[in-house]
Amino acid sequence: MAAAVLFPASLHAPPSTFPLRQRCNLDDDNRAPQLTSCPSRDVPALRSFLAHNLPVSYTESFLLQLVCARDAYIIVARDPPAAAGSGSTMVGVIAGKLARSANNRARAQGQVMLLAVAEQHRGRGLAQRLLAALESALRGAATLSDPVVLTSLVLQVAADNARALAFYHKNGFTDERCLVRYYRDAGDAMLMRKPLLVPV
Ligand SMILES: CC(C)(COP(=O)(O)OP(=O)(O)OC[C@H]1O[C@@H](n2cnc3c(N)ncnc32)[C@H](O)[C@@H]1OP(=O)(O)O)[C@@H](O)C(=O)NCCC(=O)NCCS
Repeated sequence: MAAAVLFPASLHAPPSTFPLRQRCNLDDDNRAPQLTSCPSRDVPALRSFLAHNLPVSYTESFLLQLVCARDAYIIVARDPPAAAGSGSTMVGVIAGKLARSANNRARAQGQVMLLAVAEQHRGRGLAQRLLAALESALRGAATLSDPVVLTSLVLQVAADNARALAFYHKNGFTDERCLVRYYRDAGDAMLMRKPLLVPV
């Protein structure tokens, strides 16, 4: 299989790290975890990280497909930042994809597929940085030959995950509808949406 890249080859090559520190209080702290892409060689580490930090598990083949998928983005936070890449540890991850409208390819919603931060890094704005980085990556999917406007971000989260619900509410999402017995264990999910400003 060809080496997987975070950003679809058809799109502009993104920076390998995300210049987002200046967007939150952690900016001035150059010890803050560094946001990077997730090459396919990191899929086993990604799987292990998710197994420790999310209640649902993912197979390596699913994650590999996600890493390789067109219009999908995985952003990883690594610590310590100075050694991002080899030697650093994964301390957070977000994944999402662009879902283009069936009747207008130039409009899309961004689906947040998973988000997790390691226990000892929570409550410091890391999830907020990851969410901002994903939104920025999804917006950056537009090219001159294949323009796209991101109209909203959507996600499903377990309806009893109070901390995640509070996090998303604080970050501009509102409850859209409860998806009854959505998960395999028959748990309910909340469908949440964050509308985005669309240029006219
Ligand atoms: C939900 C989850 C991703 C939130 O991650 P997080 O990194 O703790 O989130 P943030 O730090 O960005 O925001 C949480 C709190 O930190 C505060 N915060 C934000 N920026 C901050 C900063 N720069 N410095 C200090 N605190 C900050 C937020 O205001 C928020 O405060 P609150 O506790 O009063 O609500 C994390 O709890 C998690 O991984 N949970 C397990 C997996 C999960 O449930 N994922 C969601 C399912 S999709």
